[in-house]
Amino acid sequence: MTNPPPRVHDIDRQRQDASPYIDALVEFVDIDRARWGIPGHQGSREAQPMLADYLGDVALTRDFQTMIDGIDIGPDNALDKSLALAAEAWGAKRTWFLTNGSSQGNITAGLSIAGLRGSLVAQRSVHSSVIDALALSGLEAAFIAPDVDLELGISHTLTPERLDQALTENPSARAAIVVTPSYFGACADVAALAAVAHRHNAALIVDEAWGAHLGFDPGLPMNAVRLGADLVIASMHKLGGSLGQTALLHLGHGPLAAELEPFVIKSLRTTASTSESTLLLASLDLARRQIAAHGHERIPRSLAAAARLRERITTDGRFVDATQRILSFPSVIDIDPLRIVIDTRSGGISGHEARHLLYAEHGHHLELSTGSVVVGIIGAGVELDADALADALLALPRTESGDADVIPLPKSGPRRMTVREAYFANSEIIDAADAVGRVSADSVAAYPPGIPNLMPGEEITAENLDFLQKTAAAPFGHVRGALEQDMSRVRVVRQA
Ligand SMILES: Cc1ncc(COP(=O)(O)O)c(C=O)c1O
Repeated sequence: MTNPPPRVHDIDRQRQDASPYIDALVEFVDIDRARWGIPGHQGSREAQPMLADYLGDVALTRDFQTMIDGIDIGPDNALDKSLALAAEAWGAKRTWFLTNGSSQGNITAGLSIAGLRGSLVAQRSVHSSVIDALALSGLEAAFIAPDVDLELGISHTLTPERLDQALTENPSARAAIVVTPSYFGACADVAALAAVAHRHNAALIVDEAWGAHLGFDPGLPMNAVRLGADLVIASMHKLGGSLGQTALLHLGHGPLAAELEPFVIKSLRTTASTSESTLLLASLDLARRQIAAHGHERIPRSLAAAARLRERITTDGRFVDATQRILSFPSVIDIDPLRIVIDTRSGGISGHEARHLLYAEHGHHLELSTGSVVVGIIGAGVELDADALADALLALPRTESGDADVIPLPKSGPRRMTVREAYFANSEIIDAADAVGRVSADSVAAYPPGIPNLMPGEEITAENLDFLQKTAAAPFGHVRGALEQDMSRVRVVRQA
């Protein structure tokens, strides 16, 4: 493990303590005018009483249309001023607000990279939206296996050496995409990955969906754009505090980012709605203001809660805090402390069962579980009661389901066609029993974490099929993209 990069940067909190988009929106919306446009509820409680009860009158009134001169269009508009503040807060050359999550960010990135007229090198454990981007853009990709913890069944990230090797083997690549932090908080050496990519004249794209809050407290790892990434996708709704579905797209500095910029602008026109929700956009402006101007007051409380939970787990000794284990993998140089990964096996209960009982009997809803771990998340600035969760965890029964539920992650099958060729090829649905050796036409992923185990164009192996069927049959298993939930049939490319 190399030393993690520095975790502090300068931020002008006074300038960040403003939200020009909100000011303009509030001024416009709160004036009592007759509304003759969309959205068609037109702020009317009488027309939509149930919606008004659910959201509250203020939210209904402030759900307004976009494309208003001076607010989000036209020179020197208020939204552009807020976007500039966001870029400054994350250290980007430019930042865009996204209203369809990091999924939109990844698809935008894929379409933009296609503009560079080369291929892509991608971490194999990318989110399914990256695979969708390949199908849509026709971009060719070589996949690199990340570090995988076979025992816990979780994927980490990539070492710079592995990226170097992949870019050497794929000289046509103009971009590389990596996921950091992982769903489990593992952070890659982004500065070194960026240096490697740039040496190969490839842009470094970072799927930082899980790291929108990084860089806003010395207790957190640094964010990717400040470490030299060219394009960064971050789900602000995950730990950054904005409303669900909102995300940020940051453009880095330097020649590769500049080369990407016109393609990003063009691709955003393809991926964004023409009537984005002003509620969602507004939430991004306010969450940016909160974290950039006030994060230093609140984030230490979240970090303290996370530290307290870890301390309780370690002191008791029944369960294991997986932080040190995750940090021991070569691709991982730092960890987001606001993700608490608890290995439940030594406590005589599977991760899935522990999560279920915590919810059903103790009123704690944790983000995710695998057969071997539960993962709790603390939003940046939120102060949760660590002792209450620790008490509940330690009160769980020993069901001895621990080891039995761990289904080892298999390697992916060999690639036989590009994603796009397989996605659009003639296909047929066949029994899973006959599918080994055939080429998948679908993206199929055990959920969580939603990383495709079968991708369009990959040969279906007995190990992958077995993994997906076992996941589907497990008491808390779910397979996203499966034709039937038990994975008894699959869609494959029709043979000539
Ligand atoms: C690594 C990664 N990238 C992208 C996404 C998509 O993010 P969103 O749900 O904001 O569209 C996710 C979702 O969990 C993810 O885990």
